[in-house]
Amino acid sequence: MTANADGAPKARVVHEAHEVDTFHPPQKMLEKHPKKPHLSGIEEYQKLYKESITQPDQFWGRLARELLTWHKDFNTVRSGSFQTGDVAWFLEGELNASYNCIDRHAFKDPNRVAIIYEADEPSDGRTVTYGELLRQVSKVARVLQEMGVRKGDTVAVYMPMVPEAIVAVLACARIGAIHSVVFAGFSSDSLRDRILDAGSRVVITSDEGKRGGKLVGTKKIVDEALRQCPDVKNVLVFKRTGADIPMTPGRDVWWHEEVEKWPAYLPPTPVNSEDPLFLLYTSGSTGKPKGVMHTTGGYLVGAAATGKYVFDVHDGDRFFCGGDVGWITGHSYVVYAPLLLGVSTVVFEGTPAYPNFSRYWDIIERHSITHFYVAPTALRLLKRAGDHHVHGDMKHLRVLGSVGEPIAAEVWKWYFEVVGKEEAQVIDTYWQTETGSHTIAPLAGVIPTKPGSASLPFFGIEPAIIDPVSGEEKHGNDVEGVLTFKQPWPSMARTVWGAHQRYLDTYLNVYKGYYFTGDGAGRDHEGFYWIRGRVDDVVNVSGHRLSTAEIEAALLEHPAIAEAAVVGVADELTGQAVNAFVSIKDGNEASDALRKDFILQVRRSIGPFAAPKAVYIIPDLPKTRSGKIMRRILRKVLAGEEDQLGDMSTLSNPGVVDKVIEVVHEAR
Ligand code: WT7
Repeated sequence: MTANADGAPKARVVHEAHEVDTFHPPQKMLEKHPKKPHLSGIEEYQKLYKESITQPDQFWGRLARELLTWHKDFNTVRSGSFQTGDVAWFLEGELNASYNCIDRHAFKDPNRVAIIYEADEPSDGRTVTYGELLRQVSKVARVLQEMGVRKGDTVAVYMPMVPEAIVAVLACARIGAIHSVVFAGFSSDSLRDRILDAGSRVVITSDEGKRGGKLVGTKKIVDEALRQCPDVKNVLVFKRTGADIPMTPGRDVWWHEEVEKWPAYLPPTPVNSEDPLFLLYTSGSTGKPKGVMHTTGGYLVGAAATGKYVFDVHDGDRFFCGGDVGWITGHSYVVYAPLLLGVSTVVFEGTPAYPNFSRYWDIIERHSITHFYVAPTALRLLKRAGDHHVHGDMKHLRVLGSVGEPIAAEVWKWYFEVVGKEEAQVIDTYWQTETGSHTIAPLAGVIPTKPGSASLPFFGIEPAIIDPVSGEEKHGNDVEGVLTFKQPWPSMARTVWGAHQRYLDTYLNVYKGYYFTGDGAGRDHEGFYWIRGRVDDVVNVSGHRLSTAEIEAALLEHPAIAEAAVVGVADELTGQAVNAFVSIKDGNEASDALRKDFILQVRRSIGPFAAPKAVYIIPDLPKTRSGKIMRRILRKVLAGEEDQLGDMSTLSNPGVVDKVIEVVHEAR
């Protein structure tokens, strides 16, 4: 492979059975670059990559000192291993995340814009400078101290996408508290579970939220959750809409009244590199959500390094990540990466469809955005809405990021041609809540890309493809299997909160000596990686990670449901969609009303985004003689492949298969 020589965006690579377009960084992107990309070309990437794998201490020690400001330097770059599950980085080092995100930039240039707030109504936005951010974060940090929050305590944050959500997160970090952001689309039950699991005694929220022109009763959901959280002592309520909401005396206080009491500077509390920075709950293939724990030094190095090299961020850039702060994408690429690098980050409260399908493009034009980062699900929606919505002057765009699911070649091309006018590079980033930051992704301006491939590993990531049957690593190119990583990297999760054994069993004990991602992947003839999707029972709906087991558990809470099986099916718009098969208890009659009630049960129990798209009521679920539900049969029938059901000899109740086919056909 060669770096861009002639500026031609497309170079055709033909290799035996493969025929894939390779796109070099567009010449026009390099021409509008404020300087030059951080790396001179693919050779420099290869040199640094090699160093990061063979001399990780040297490589990461240098980057950690370059990218972050340490209160106290470290002596040991890394210790521990996958074998022993005790990975740690920059061990003696001390630092503070909010100092690194705010103070050092505010001292240099207090008027530089930190946050560009795009409110749900396009006219309601405003900007927050680094100086202003320092004052707000100091005050809220002081309010938290007043509530008794100390280093190592967890604080739940349940907020809409407003600048104050970022202030809340950084205020926790400022005093060494651990933020636990819960996506504001989660139900009160889910919020309750996360507050209890994390042991949070303070919740930060807002009166209401506003999204796509609709009001969301944020505080009401908190109140419901807190009925079963006796240990929560205080709720800090940011006034977003001014709705008349009940305040519980002695527990609930208004943000604007509290911050008035305290001075505008509070010194940051230095913490150890390995002290936790945050918890973020995510769905696994079984059981209840896991509180993935990230630590301070390693996580921040990962966020800053990927922001700098994958997105090629430079001073003065304006970064727009459409993710919500309730997910890892929002943590790493709305908050930490852009602020660590001292650029401006967009906090977008609304949806891509409100007030119309041009909303993203309007934002990009209005703020001369240089980097745009979003999930393919949003691109599919906008592509379908029609190219005429894509207008405006987006000439500053250099990077078009993609995250959360594979991006199909035709969507990739639409993104590149219609949105980017072939002047910006599409950067498909593969990573996970657990990895903290990008693991496989091209480096903007440096690495050529192929639509649908996340391309090459980031520094320090040593991928290994493993044969799931033999458990053996497959060496060389042109191989398929499950994706693992062979050595620790700084921003990997350190544990699952209160369940370290589960952490070991999920990630490190599946293939001993490797980190298991849960995804299938191929490595092509040029060493490029192609992510094939999850090999476990995790489904990906609109870039949201859901567990079929969790949705089944939610359905079983309904008094009329006897048994439930949930499967993911391919969906044109959302990537995958949730479909549920249930059998009902005697005395209940299958009806549309009942099906609706089942969907409502999931909305109540998990949140609206987890609601099944279809519910099929059948007399009995297909089961093996040992009682295991054969989800494969359900998947096949939904895919219209009922002539390829495979081996059914272990089925204890073969008669139900026809019934499944009949019910699915009737519903269509
Ligand atoms: C899972 C992680 C990473 C932030 C958003 C999701 C899938 C993620 C890609 C990509 C193909 C992708 C994987 C992964 N995934 N990025 N570029 N191409 N698949 O974070 O909720 O932790 O989900 O998302 O299946 O395991 P998450």
